[in-house]
Amino acid sequence: MSGGSRKEQGHEVGTGESRPRVTIQDLTAMKAAGDPIVMVTAYDYPTARIADEAGVDVVLVGDSAANCVLGYDSTVPVGMDEMLVLTRAVRRGLERPLLIGDLPYGSYEASNELAIENAQRMVKDAGCDAVKLEGGGQSAERARAMVAAGIPVMGHVGLTPQTAGSIGGMKAQGRDADGAVRVARDAESLQLAGCFAIVFEAVPQAVAELITARLSVPTIGIGAGNATSGQVLVMHDLVGLNEGPMARFVKQYGDARGAMLESVREYAREVRDRSFPGPDHVYSVDPGELDEFRRRLEEGDLDSSYSWDWEPLG
Ligand code: KIV
Repeated sequence: MSGGSRKEQGHEVGTGESRPRVTIQDLTAMKAAGDPIVMVTAYDYPTARIADEAGVDVVLVGDSAANCVLGYDSTVPVGMDEMLVLTRAVRRGLERPLLIGDLPYGSYEASNELAIENAQRMVKDAGCDAVKLEGGGQSAERARAMVAAGIPVMGHVGLTPQTAGSIGGMKAQGRDADGAVRVARDAESLQLAGCFAIVFEAVPQAVAELITARLSVPTIGIGAGNATSGQVLVMHDLVGLNEGPMARFVKQYGDARGAMLESVREYAREVRDRSFPGPDHVYSVDPGELDEFRRRLEEGDLDSSYSWDWEPLG
């Protein structure tokens, strides 16, 4: 069948073993043991399958989906309904990693009630294990309300793209003492609010290291050096599926875009020169049946069990 179906009754076929899902307690234990936590974003079933098979610990359906898969020019326009569609697809593709749903801009800021309602949608409707929100200050209050409602929350400090306009643009944060204090204060307020882990985005390595040492919860860096408890990268950046200039902190491990582009170009070439489909991609028919079919076509003897009396359209 097309579509490469590999699932049976919701379970992965072929591994013969069911792998326990990563828990928040596992992440805490990894920080304590000094074992780096591997986190990546995913936005659909195939990228979720890849993340799971590659053995990552945590998958985030980031609001970076706005840029990576929905074609928006920032994360601001993406809404809850769009995030839920993507997150459900990721859920269907995951077995082992912890799944976190990003709360998009506008889905939590206005009130604790709104934050809880949307976080519950991520958990109930999309099967998330936890949610993530950006910023300290009032966001810490929202985090606290969600945690009190029984929803695990991951924080996100430093560069917070949803509110880039109010922090001076899409640029590194905490590069002077005042800025570093702000990042530390945001992180500490999120920990106090009950967040189980905190993302540090675009923060100097030395600053992230000092703050990580003061926190009991794991820190996950993206552009924050290698002293955090783990790392996260955007799937489409790391596999090389995104176009255009990348942030300084991105390491591109592949050229998925190049590979896909070449595949589609080759397909187009082969369709145009009629070398595709070739003998391996066609179905055969018994020669006797084919002769009979030809005979019936020639005699105008198409299936007589039904007929159409439609007027031609147009
Ligand atoms: O949306 C996202 O991809 C993120 C990561 C950069 C942590 O928030």
